[in-house]
Amino acid sequence: MILGLTGASGFLGRELIKTASSQNHTVIGFTRKNATTIPGCQETRIFGPNVDLSNVDAVIHLAGETILGLWTKEKKREIRESRVQGTKWLVDAIEKSRITALIAASGVGIYGDRGEEQITETSSPGTSGFLVDVAKEWERAGAAVESFGTRFVPVRVAMVLGAGGGAMQILAPVFRLGLGGKLGTGKQWMPWIHLADVAALFLLAATCDTIRGPLNAAAPEQVRNQQFTSIFAQVAQRPEIFSVPGPLLSLLLRDQSALLLDSQKIRSAVAEQNNYTFKFPSLKSALVDAMRLQKD
Ligand SMILES: NC(=O)c1ccc[n+]([C@@H]2O[C@H](COP(=O)([O-])OP(=O)(O)OC[C@H]3O[C@@H](n4cnc5c(N)ncnc54)[C@H](OP(=O)(O)O)[C@@H]3O)[C@@H](O)[C@H]2O)c1
Repeated sequence: MILGLTGASGFLGRELIKTASSQNHTVIGFTRKNATTIPGCQETRIFGPNVDLSNVDAVIHLAGETILGLWTKEKKREIRESRVQGTKWLVDAIEKSRITALIAASGVGIYGDRGEEQITETSSPGTSGFLVDVAKEWERAGAAVESFGTRFVPVRVAMVLGAGGGAMQILAPVFRLGLGGKLGTGKQWMPWIHLADVAALFLLAATCDTIRGPLNAAAPEQVRNQQFTSIFAQVAQRPEIFSVPGPLLSLLLRDQSALLLDSQKIRSAVAEQNNYTFKFPSLKSALVDAMRLQKD
């Protein structure tokens, strides 16, 4: 299959290129940067208005402003606009082409703060919050391709654990210094997934004709923040002494504290129905692997 991949230069994109190549797929990478070649891609094209999807069978859409960093007004505008606008460029191009599937990154943030509720892909999205609103708008923009007969799968990705990017870049140094600790009450459910499983699930969605609609990318072992902290400290071989009170996080980070304090107990029912076997089903195995490869 010839896959078009936006965000190919990013943390998930680089892993997807490796996994796609190992499954004998060809990848055409898309980037905003002129005259760039992305390792592992057969060809690199520009991502922007009038995006060229010729000879592409399916598109995996990962591009978007990172949610890491402080959410200033300008940053929030960029997080939202980069995702919605980029998706609209693809939808316009897909209307003129014969793409079979659009597989787009979304986030588990779409579910909002759900306490003890067991969430699957059939659960309703949350009702309020910045991430809920952005993810809903983003998914709505992508769903427009269904009217052209193109299959649409928003992949609702949990916190990704893998070396070289994402959460590990922040968590590994903190825990190595012995500064890691529970956040708020520590009772909130914290969905996570290993990088290798995210890449495999995006490819499953791209190649399996019967998958349509949301797919949760979250590992089967469900943990609360407190358990996450304990296992991380154990793997880093450091004590877990510190804890950060929820009200302090809310005061410092305002709506961004939802990233750390919202509770989401998420199951990937679609992966189960498709007999997907997780490479890293347990948090400990995922962290051991990610820490082993993480240099910082
Ligand atoms: N990592 C996670 O834990 C996680 C969890 C849930 C959801 N996700 C979602 O999965 C997607 C991929 O994540 P990632 O961790 O691979 O992200 P990443 O490393 O930040 O890479 C995203 C890519 O998007 C492009 N990009 C960056 N800023 C952009 C902007 N303002 N407008 C348009 N394109 C921009 C960049 O490609 P070029 O510079 O080459 O154009 C970049 O390589 C993101 O949409 C993210 O929100 C990630």
